[in-house]
Amino acid sequence: ELGDYRHFMLKEIFEQPQSVTGTLENRLAGDHVLPALLGVSDALERLAQVEEIQILACGTSYHAGLVGRYWIEANTDIPCNVEVASEYRYRRQPPRKNMLFVTISQSGETADTLAALEKIKENHGALATLTICNVAESSLTRESDMALMTMAGPEIGVASTKAFTTQLVALQLLMVLLMQAKGADKAKVAQMVADLRKLPALIEQVLDLNPKIETLAERFIEKNHALFLGRGELYPIAMEGALKLKEISYIHAEAYPAGELKHGPLALVDSEMPIVTVAPNTALLEKLKSNLEEVRSRGGELYVFADREAHIVAADNLHVLEMPHVPEMLAPIVYTIPLQLLSYHVAVLKGTDVDKPRNLAKSVTVE
Ligand code: M6R
Repeated sequence: ELGDYRHFMLKEIFEQPQSVTGTLENRLAGDHVLPALLGVSDALERLAQVEEIQILACGTSYHAGLVGRYWIEANTDIPCNVEVASEYRYRRQPPRKNMLFVTISQSGETADTLAALEKIKENHGALATLTICNVAESSLTRESDMALMTMAGPEIGVASTKAFTTQLVALQLLMVLLMQAKGADKAKVAQMVADLRKLPALIEQVLDLNPKIETLAERFIEKNHALFLGRGELYPIAMEGALKLKEISYIHAEAYPAGELKHGPLALVDSEMPIVTVAPNTALLEKLKSNLEEVRSRGGELYVFADREAHIVAADNLHVLEMPHVPEMLAPIVYTIPLQLLSYHVAVLKGTDVDKPRNLAKSVTVE
């Protein structure tokens, strides 16, 4: 099953153009998203009534939810909250009206996410429950009113890779459907659909950076700590990059929104601290660049994945890996890929059990 790949994780990283294509397939019409993808006949009518969204998930799936909030709130007037299921399930929430509950899970069997869904069904009179899930025959799909399946195919590596990027694609589809249900500008919807079609080719281009990222990885093997920075919807991508590095290479990594640096973490920065940053050409790029200068002037070693149009030039302590120019809305998906590859290669160089990292299980079915 591994074919020419050394690990399932690498195979699954390289499968992403296909898994993204599969998640889009039969779901896009010429200029809009087909509501039938939610598996019910009145999906648009239901979404039209939604006044609030609550997303619940764990781990990597939680990071997908965080990106989803940026997207949904940027493009609709629907407020969206995101919380880790293990917290949500044990605290009181005020009763809600017309709220859409969205769970996100690769396995569909994560105990905390399932328990949060049960709690919602018992206590909150949700308008509807929707799961974004990768396993059709799972408890979450069975227990939810609607299911938006990610078509990643089986994911064997404990570290979630293709499941995550297809969850992001699913959240894009959900966002566009919400826009359609709420009567958004048709030209805007059509532009988003056109951009989504570019995604598999963009991912292919980034996978070509693999040899360069492998070389870069050598610089991390002696490190005990790393910081990941991002802004806006790239902040959850920094969180995901940090989780991947922790999970498979056992290097302590933390993510910060770049604007938070001077509120504390800047004190950690010295020449021993690698700082990984994702810098697409978004509205926040200029702000991010000044955050990078703050780090450099304190001797930090910067690794920046940057849009080739961002004009971030390599220098002492500043390593730049050029990324293709991507539509702003797709940046979180495309910038996930180099961070997956980086953690993969660091783990291989360190000799850890990449597909089965210590102490972890693929599916966390107990609390
Ligand atoms: O199956 P799920 O998506 O519900 O799993 C949630 C987390 O356990 C999972 O994403 C975990 O964080 C991954 N090992 C991260 O790579």
